[in-house]
Amino acid sequence: MATILERRSGSQAFFESFDDDLARYSLLALGCAAAAYYVWQLSLRFSSHLRRLSTFGDDKQRYYVSASERLSWFKTHLIYAPLFRTRHNREFQLSSAINMGNLPSRFHGLLVIGLISMNVTLCVVTVPYRSEEDTVAGIIRNRSGTIATVNLIPLVLTAGRNNPLISLLHVPFDTWNLLHRWLGRIVALQALVHTFAWMVPKVQEGSWSVVAMSIKGSSFIMSGLVATCSITALLIHSPSPIRHAFYETFVHLHFALVAVFMAFLWVHLKGFVAKNYLIVALVFWVLERSIRLFTLLYRNLGRVSTSATVEAMPGDAMRITLRMARPWKFNPGQHLYLYIPAVGLWTSHPFSVAWSEAEEISPDEKGLPTVQQDLLRTTDKTTVSLLVRRRTGMTDKLFKRATNSIGNRVTLRAFAEGPYGNIHSMDSYGTVMLFAGGVGITHHVPFVRHLVEGFAEGTVAARRVTLVWIIQSPEHLEWIRPWMTKILAMDRRREVLRIMLFVTRPRNTKEIQSPSATVQMFPGRPNIDTLVGMEVENQIGAMGVLVCGNGSLSDDVRRVCRKRQSPSNVNYVEESFSW
Ligand SMILES: Cc1cc2nc3c(=O)[nH]c(=O)nc-3n(C[C@H](O)[C@H](O)[C@H](O)COP(=O)(O)OP(=O)(O)OC[C@H]3O[C@@H](n4cnc5c(N)ncnc54)[C@H](O)[C@@H]3O)c2cc1C
Ligand SMILES: *[C@@H]1O[C@H](CO)[C@@H](O)[C@H](O)[C@H]1NC(C)=O
Repeated sequence: MATILERRSGSQAFFESFDDDLARYSLLALGCAAAAYYVWQLSLRFSSHLRRLSTFGDDKQRYYVSASERLSWFKTHLIYAPLFRTRHNREFQLSSAINMGNLPSRFHGLLVIGLISMNVTLCVVTVPYRSEEDTVAGIIRNRSGTIATVNLIPLVLTAGRNNPLISLLHVPFDTWNLLHRWLGRIVALQALVHTFAWMVPKVQEGSWSVVAMSIKGSSFIMSGLVATCSITALLIHSPSPIRHAFYETFVHLHFALVAVFMAFLWVHLKGFVAKNYLIVALVFWVLERSIRLFTLLYRNLGRVSTSATVEAMPGDAMRITLRMARPWKFNPGQHLYLYIPAVGLWTSHPFSVAWSEAEEISPDEKGLPTVQQDLLRTTDKTTVSLLVRRRTGMTDKLFKRATNSIGNRVTLRAFAEGPYGNIHSMDSYGTVMLFAGGVGITHHVPFVRHLVEGFAEGTVAARRVTLVWIIQSPEHLEWIRPWMTKILAMDRRREVLRIMLFVTRPRNTKEIQSPSATVQMFPGRPNIDTLVGMEVENQIGAMGVLVCGNGSLSDDVRRVCRKRQSPSNVNYVEESFSW
């Protein structure tokens, strides 16, 4: 008898330390996956850097027109492929209000499957299924608890705007958000397994009263149960339709439930090794929040604070001009989070930066400046402009505020946090195509500006830049008029930039007039296949295609780019303005 007991407790000790080993291995495995991805990204970045360098001087870009067959296959069938046929970003909608979300891409699908398989494996390996039921339940219970806790580390890491892996691995926030959602589901299921593996033997052993008694009698059981309940609530309130329909409510509830979950888990894990994982996760969370707070204070509290001028435009859009408290330099493709307390209290919304400029303060503004003041003024104030589409929440309130004010414009106190993003550089492509639908143009304007400037200065590979913009009415041209005027006046612009405007709902054909050979206007929708085909035929160097628009536009461009992979070297990048 004694030996059996000894062996049992020995094996228990074995399983306990074994669980922790497994937990650490799982972190190691994730780390290795990230490292492998990093190496791959590094080689891609290196080759695009070489490509960019090699174009300086004369035309050596011919080498880059065609792609290696293996890489083409890989890109067509894995990297750019939607899960099934061609659908990726076009949302599944039950009605215009209920949005079922979109399908992950094939590559994302593989990532998620990898994550799930790893977790299932971790929870079931080496469990001695032939031994007594109690032991099996005990081992599974302990294992799922430990693994769920260790998963909190990647779960918290992938949630943050300031996740360092975004810039390190060049993986955009929306991909991390996808992983965050799946990790969350996994943790919730593991917590449920953990709870049931405790509860079922208890019920079998006696009855529900035994369960009730042990809940009452121990803060350990009680806290665990509350933690499981709160993470189950998190699981239930997070599906895409709910999240997208009530985004602000979702965010606040999410925050509250996570706080409850973490607090009760803290109590539950008293004296366990697994508590260390919780601590690491909490440290990540606190760090992320501190960085956000710091950026917010740094960006907006200078000698003067940030203000936002909101102008209502035709077609349910707004141009927002931020006068920043401090100078700020943006790269194309970056976004910021905007807080306007007057309409949105403490909530923040992401918007791409369409234009930024150093506003010159004239020295005679406040009389004659002394020399010292002049020195201080060498860095001028920055204005940052956004183009925002009116939706139903904060953007709707803002739009109404503007239309109810004199001249359809209003100036409000604002805070901006950023910059975020900037994953994709288009500097190494000889041929660049930019597709924008509606307000999506805001993402492309800085790329156009940067590429035309770079062409004139000889710092980018671009020799052909085509901007395709699809709008409903010519009135919408007003949105970006001041910026376009500046771009069209840039040095050597005619040699490199072509703009094609497609007006889907013109009131009459007279409205559709092409101002010049390099700026053309057409009625109706573009045939993406023809447009891309034309560019591929005249391709210089490698080709980069960037899309920002609604889901069906991106899916269309994605399909065409996949089709054109061989023999051409075509890279496809999209920004979907959502996650
Ligand atoms: C990286 C990025 C860049 C973006 N750039 C632009 C831009 O330049 N111009 C532009 O018009 N829009 C942009 N968007 C979309 C913009 O953030 C949303 O339209 C805006 O937050 C909607 O606010 P609302 O309260 O009116 O939303 P609602 O009408 O309540 O919701 C509309 C949609 O916006 C989403 N949404 C709402 N609040 C947030 C939030 N705080 N964070 C993320 N998504 C939210 C909802 O899930 C919903 O799908 C961008 C989004 C992202 C992710
Ligand atoms: C599970 O963990 C608890 C707490 O550490 C321990 O008392 C128990 O023996 C473990 N059970 C098994 C089967 O390993």
